[in-house]
Amino acid sequence: MSASLFRRKSPEAEGETRLRRVLSVFDLTAIGVAAIIGAGIFSTIGEAAAMAGSSVTLVFVIGAIVAGLSALSYAEMASSVPLAGSAYTYAYVVFGELIAWIVGWMLVLEYAVGNIAVAISWSGYFQALLNSWGVPLPLYLVRDPLSLWQEAQAFIKSNDPALQASYEAWVRAPRVLGIPLVMNLPALLITALVTFIAYIGIRESRLANNFFVVLKVGAVLLVIIVGAFFVDVERWRAFMPNGFSGMMRGVGAVFFAYIGFDALSTTAEEARNPKRDLPLAMIFSLTICTLLYVAVALVLTGIVPYSELAVPDPLAYVLTKLELSPRLRQALMAVIAVSAVIAMASVLLVFQIGQPRIWYAMSQDGLLPPAFGRVHPRYRTPHISTLLTGLAVAVPLFFSSLHTVVDMTSMGTLMAFAVVSAGVAYLHHKPMPGYAPRFRVPKVPGRWPFLGMVAAGLLWSYYLNPHSLSDLLDFTKGGTYWKYRVLLSVLIVVGYFIVRYNLSLLPMLGMLSAVYLIIELDVENWLRLAVWMGIGLVLYFGYGYWHSILRTHESSSA
Ligand code: ALA
Repeated sequence: MSASLFRRKSPEAEGETRLRRVLSVFDLTAIGVAAIIGAGIFSTIGEAAAMAGSSVTLVFVIGAIVAGLSALSYAEMASSVPLAGSAYTYAYVVFGELIAWIVGWMLVLEYAVGNIAVAISWSGYFQALLNSWGVPLPLYLVRDPLSLWQEAQAFIKSNDPALQASYEAWVRAPRVLGIPLVMNLPALLITALVTFIAYIGIRESRLANNFFVVLKVGAVLLVIIVGAFFVDVERWRAFMPNGFSGMMRGVGAVFFAYIGFDALSTTAEEARNPKRDLPLAMIFSLTICTLLYVAVALVLTGIVPYSELAVPDPLAYVLTKLELSPRLRQALMAVIAVSAVIAMASVLLVFQIGQPRIWYAMSQDGLLPPAFGRVHPRYRTPHISTLLTGLAVAVPLFFSSLHTVVDMTSMGTLMAFAVVSAGVAYLHHKPMPGYAPRFRVPKVPGRWPFLGMVAAGLLWSYYLNPHSLSDLLDFTKGGTYWKYRVLLSVLIVVGYFIVRYNLSLLPMLGMLSAVYLIIELDVENWLRLAVWMGIGLVLYFGYGYWHSILRTHESSSA
């Protein structure tokens, strides 16, 4: 059984290409920017800044480095295995079926759960737009029932005036058979619309894509340029108001903002010169987004006190704080809200098209039932998977908070990044027959640089706190110490392999940095991830293992 769990696919069989190679480095960069800029910068940055203060800029730089290291590994895999399925397919080639299943299961967090976050954020800006037109929606039509009910209960107990509106909304909501009709209506409607578009198979053309890019970048630049005139640099002094751990609490939201560049890897078959252009485009799009993100973060935290930024529409919110004529302010807000609504809808569409295709690939491999791979006779889309994706986004909208879904999305994506990076390091160490990537991550032997970095890290932590090592070993100390204990254990285990086999440095750094960010996410997310993984394994051993196409081949040739 154990050998068959690691049944692999051959990279040769996957490497054929039938698409036209038309995309230049410029087109590829535009696709990258289109997939990256969305709810992260328009919405979740607010929550991250509220926790990190202006050090959120530093978190953006850390996020960019982690994303950049993984991007190199994605580019290498994409230029060798240029097929749908992304990280799922790469994992199948390198590590075999079980790990591929786990990665595919993690990608549900990136795509479907990611879209829950984007839909909630979209709703925030849509409301800002309606408000600017003077038609606000009642609270019971823009909130999820679970958190509204919790706030209403808290109001009954505490009489906290901040919760009064929630209580009133809960009491006033219309009722059917005694059940209050509370829902995030805009988020549900946009999910239904995007699912419909994905179902009938309208693809974003290059023209539409370029339009989205101009719109998104234009809106972000507008906030930066207008906002720059109102920045009070004194506010930046609150650099790390909640310390290092407070700063890192924003990491899930910030990393979320970078998710999407991996969508570029799926265009490897259509790039004119993937060996050169794919890595360049990934690096260009990440650099452009990093610069925009850092600038927005500086502007936001320079205009209002950081603690005010935990709102669903921070870019529109800060504009309300500018000393401008009311008409100009209103006009600017409307421009930002319209741009955000369109920009986020385009991200929703990319993910809502991506998720069914991963399920489609998994179904072709026998790991999911055939229904997931069925293609609509007329629209030529995996329609059943598309509808299921719509449900997978819509149903949790009734009980999900933005913070939780953003962190879970980041967690799932980071897991996929870690596996792809480890896969590339493995292939550098032990190339498999038929593996001939057109782009290779520079192969730097990792042993000595890794040991050097560990030594520098130890010296640095000694400099910060001479007792750091003994504190770490004092198990009566809890809290963040546990995170660093886990980190140290990972470093020891992974470091053993790096040093013993002198593994390729850059992919291993990609893997370690992704694991580091996972460790920095709240512990509750690890527990949620463990539950998610458990469900995934039950499904695999209940279905996929027995129906896998490779198993069927093995038994028929035996
Ligand atoms: N990076 C994408 C966004 O921010 C997921 O919406």
